[in-house]
Amino acid sequence: MRIDIVTCQPDLLTSPFAHSIVKRAQDKGLVEIHVHELRDFAINKHGQIDDYVFGGGAGMVLRVEPIAACLDGLLAERAYDAVVYLTPDGETLRQPLANRFSLLQNIIMLCGHYKGVDERIRSAYITHEISIGDYVLSGGELGAAVLTDAIVRLLPGVLGNEESALSDSFQDNLLAPPVYTRPAEWRGQSVPDILLSGNTPLVEAWRHEQALQRTRQRRPDLLGE
Ligand code: ADE
Repeated sequence: MRIDIVTCQPDLLTSPFAHSIVKRAQDKGLVEIHVHELRDFAINKHGQIDDYVFGGGAGMVLRVEPIAACLDGLLAERAYDAVVYLTPDGETLRQPLANRFSLLQNIIMLCGHYKGVDERIRSAYITHEISIGDYVLSGGELGAAVLTDAIVRLLPGVLGNEESALSDSFQDNLLAPPVYTRPAEWRGQSVPDILLSGNTPLVEAWRHEQALQRTRQRRPDLLGE
């Protein structure tokens, strides 16, 4: 898989991809992540990429030319399966969306900033508009990092068997059950006996029951209740 992220704040994306599972996936050659600095496509030597809103009002809007130049360059190089714009008015990111995106080959993610991007970019290039939740962030970068992480961990070979994404919360519409490690006793709280029993079928049944109970208590909507 290849992911191209177009942003005017590339530094915001350095750390999320330089550690842990997403780093491992890149090191193994399972994903290539390329971050493109919008300012490299600025309209003048002052590095201008944004402008005032037509019609008046506070805030700046990202201009069409820098974004179009960057996207045209990428689209001329290869076919993309999705050109995503991260925005609070997009479809809310949920596990099934991440699952679907993990099957794609080439993805572009465009990060908005300030008041957003000129609407004509959305109509000319964008195939998917995605929000990571009902709140407004300062830009799309954290959304792109979240979406990338959610997709990359699903790519075959990224996670080992023992940490398989199939046991993640949400994969079966259930939250994950509680987990424990040593010590078995801590400040009067002990690990449930069943987890120390070595009886795998019983442990599995317990985990399923706990997952159901937790989902019923915290997210009954996932069970359609
Ligand atoms: N940009 C600003 N807010 C956002 C959100 N909630 N999701 C994705 N991108 C955003």
